[in-house]
Amino acid sequence: MEYLSDRIKSLSVSQTLAMAQKSREMKASGIDVINLSIGEPDFHTPDDIKEAAKKAIDDNYTSYPPVPGYADLREAISVKFREENGLDYSPDQIIVSGGGKHSLINVILSIVNPGDEVIILAPYWVSYYDQIILAEGKPVVISTSIDNDFKVTPAQLEEAITDKTRLLIFNSPSNPTGMVYTGEQMKAIAEVIKRHEGVFIISDEIYEHIIFTGKHESMAQFDFIYDRTITLNGVSKGYAMTGWRIGYIGAPLWIAKAVNKLQGQFTSGVSSISQRAALAAVQSKTNSKEVMRDAFKKRRDLVYKLVSEIEGFRVRLPQGAFYLFPEVNWYFGKSDGDRKVTDSASLAMYLLEKAHVAVVGGEGFGAPDCLRLSYATSEEELIEAVRRIKEALALLR
Ligand SMILES: Cc1ncc(COP(=O)(O)O)c(C=O)c1O
Repeated sequence: MEYLSDRIKSLSVSQTLAMAQKSREMKASGIDVINLSIGEPDFHTPDDIKEAAKKAIDDNYTSYPPVPGYADLREAISVKFREENGLDYSPDQIIVSGGGKHSLINVILSIVNPGDEVIILAPYWVSYYDQIILAEGKPVVISTSIDNDFKVTPAQLEEAITDKTRLLIFNSPSNPTGMVYTGEQMKAIAEVIKRHEGVFIISDEIYEHIIFTGKHESMAQFDFIYDRTITLNGVSKGYAMTGWRIGYIGAPLWIAKAVNKLQGQFTSGVSSISQRAALAAVQSKTNSKEVMRDAFKKRRDLVYKLVSEIEGFRVRLPQGAFYLFPEVNWYFGKSDGDRKVTDSASLAMYLLEKAHVAVVGGEGFGAPDCLRLSYATSEEELIEAVRRIKEALALLR
């Protein structure tokens, strides 16, 4: 007999992981699957960072680290915030956690009460929705359209705010759309939030270094909203360090203290070796993140051109992250023999089985008319993947 809590029963399994699982099974049975469903850089962690981790082991960084993170790491992140983002966070406003995902749930659990409304902007990153559910908050989804570059308008936001709204989760550059808000657009959003005392913003800036438009803009730059903004970042994406599990926040002191308290009872300080590696990343003087960014940009240009040519796909040029998010509903209702495509998930499954290309349906991102393709893979694989996708789609009538 199983006795699962209502809490765990209310969570859904990530669609991204479900696709990855199915494509792994196909690969294991000898099928040549191209995986465009993954959300991580295909690069290895740069050597200087790996060396720092090896040295940390030799230097015996093997005991419990401080709950909020090593002092020198928090100091280095404080410097990073100041120099790269123009943000003033003292080290005690910074908490290091086990990945951006962990930073996010820490903040949500610290400020969201059961029944509080949390606004998320669809297409959204899959975990936002379920983390809000986990905290017994109420996700309030604002849908954006490809015709507005998947960006929310101030009027839409204003309309969604009620006296129960506690939080807005904002993400630029965006997973899954790759869209990047301009400073002006962000300011307009900040101005709406400013009018509503008691509403906070988590600004998820984890893709800050994978940006093709020039400068990354931080939400907390606007003085009038700084006290109500939690800046969330980490080393996973920009430094190809997804496996090390290091994320962090810069936040108002009382939120940092609350997160520290939560973390103290829950996980304690995160892996000592990973923290030393993250210190090397944040302080690195090499150009490895720029090299990776340039490689992503080249692939972005390639895959955008190829996908734009696919009949029935509508696509916007991403300005950051490493995803393309075409609208594909033109294919819904079409069939290949007795194989009918009814929605984005069934189109993704059709492409996996017919073209042996793994992509993710838009449903899990709150955008059921779209598909997510990750271009964090080689140019040869991208060219071959799009060729196969086209071939399979041509059979749908
Ligand atoms: C938008 C967004 N935020 C946060 C994260 C969390 O990253 P991590 O927990 O690997 O640091 C991810 C990872 O996919 C993401 O796409």
